[in-house]
Amino acid sequence: MNDIWGNLGQNRAATCERKIVSLFQDTERFDRFSAEADDMLLDYSKTNIDEQAHNLLIKLAESTQVAEKRDAMFEGRPINLTETRSVLHTALRSNEVEPLFVQGVDVRPGIVSTLKRMEQFANDIRFGRVTGANGQAFTDIVNIGIGGSDLGPAMSTLALRPYHDGPRCHFVSNVDGAHVSDTLRALDPSKTLVIIASKTFTTIETMTNAETAINWLRNSVGEEAHLHLAAVSTALNKTSEIGITPERVFGFEDWVGGRYSLWGPVGLPIMLAIGANQFRQFLAGGFAMDQHFKNAPLARNLPVLLGLVGIWHRNICDYQTRAVLPYDQRLQRLPAYLQQLDMESNGKRVAIDGATLNRKSGPVVWGEPGTNGQHAFFQLLHQGTEVVPAEFLIAATGHEGDLSNHHELLKANCLAQSEALMVGRSFEEAETIASKLGFTGAELQKQASHRTFPGNRPSITISYPKLTPFTLGQVIALFEHRVFVEGAIWDINPFDQWGVELGKELANTLLPMVKGASCKGKDGSTQGLIRHLSKLGTV
Ligand code: F6P
Repeated sequence: MNDIWGNLGQNRAATCERKIVSLFQDTERFDRFSAEADDMLLDYSKTNIDEQAHNLLIKLAESTQVAEKRDAMFEGRPINLTETRSVLHTALRSNEVEPLFVQGVDVRPGIVSTLKRMEQFANDIRFGRVTGANGQAFTDIVNIGIGGSDLGPAMSTLALRPYHDGPRCHFVSNVDGAHVSDTLRALDPSKTLVIIASKTFTTIETMTNAETAINWLRNSVGEEAHLHLAAVSTALNKTSEIGITPERVFGFEDWVGGRYSLWGPVGLPIMLAIGANQFRQFLAGGFAMDQHFKNAPLARNLPVLLGLVGIWHRNICDYQTRAVLPYDQRLQRLPAYLQQLDMESNGKRVAIDGATLNRKSGPVVWGEPGTNGQHAFFQLLHQGTEVVPAEFLIAATGHEGDLSNHHELLKANCLAQSEALMVGRSFEEAETIASKLGFTGAELQKQASHRTFPGNRPSITISYPKLTPFTLGQVIALFEHRVFVEGAIWDINPFDQWGVELGKELANTLLPMVKGASCKGKDGSTQGLIRHLSKLGTV
């Protein structure tokens, strides 16, 4: 395997000055460096990966046993080794019927019955059969959760706006009182259902926001507040403690990680917004990508290729970040969603056996929708000193048939950006432009330098027919499996998140201190900040 890494490094050393655009002398490059699954296309021809690098990357996937590890995940083996858990979020979207065992128990019947309960509940709410305390139908849903109990449904409900025919959905995550306050202020408690979503039901942000929301309900509907509550959690004993009746609790098991949980009860707000049939389409999209991931040869396998492009850019080219750029306004929260999915999964510094990694792992993931980003940070993408691989997403058509001129502009801009990043603009071309503008002599040279684009900046493009529930399911599953492939190659465990624990523990020790207790024992900066904040007012 070291040979493969070495050979990839040699390929890079020999080709890093090569212009990506020169690779298109091969007129079939687009066809050979792109792959499709159910009308979704991944184009990675605008990277500096050539035939040799491609073959080496496939060998890397083979030698790190990506396929074997993938199969172990789908079979329910406990691949989350630090927590001795199976990883079976894929089972939530599967339509397979043969038994799937976790610790000797077939998990399929439970998945089916929970989905049915969710559907029954969602239909009852959507059709006004289940109402609030005073008999009024629910017009608004407030989901209280954070991280995986927020980002997935928040991102997806926004993405699927054209399919909304249920109650409006709102999301409260931040412990900052501004979030819950601004959200609730606009709502009528007698027509609002609050869903408390927390896998553990211990997360301080969610429990604090839940308490505030329950008080808000009680102030309006009194003891009948429980009629306005539902919960999503694996901790069924804890949900009853805050007065949520068992039939309003939708459980899931510890073999579904928080950031992979939107396919089950955490997706309840999505189902309430778009209805059970469309939610099943969403699951079908995820399942279709699973089938592709399981069955397509590695060299034509979208998640594998996306993962290998990630490895190429991170480890071979040493790029530190990647930008996710959906040219799809409704995917505006996709970058935030992927930040948790990717960085909480692969932001690790030790291998599965605990040894310190000897190569870089997960990059920083960031992004914004196009075309907005063009008028903000694209300057750096084109002319900055850092190279940031760009990952574009674009639909063939939008939902606004009467505004197809907008969509044409959107597509043209998306393609223009990847072309500009790759092709750039030479000094000579810039000189001609500056000269036409009337500059001469030294000023001409200076102006030309500023107007030169180095180009040769890699990008990939993911395209799909239209952002439907099915497509969204494909997109999310594609990125989930990409994280899996990269984690498998780095030999890390993408399914735990110990890195979030220390801050939580310290916040517990700091809470009494910000309320006035002695902060002796804390470092000088922390003590200074506590003193300063106390002096300024109640913190
Ligand atoms: O802070 C990290 C984390 O544990 C995430 O992994 C998780 O999605 C989030 O907190 C919320 O956890 P819970 O659903 O248990 O409230």
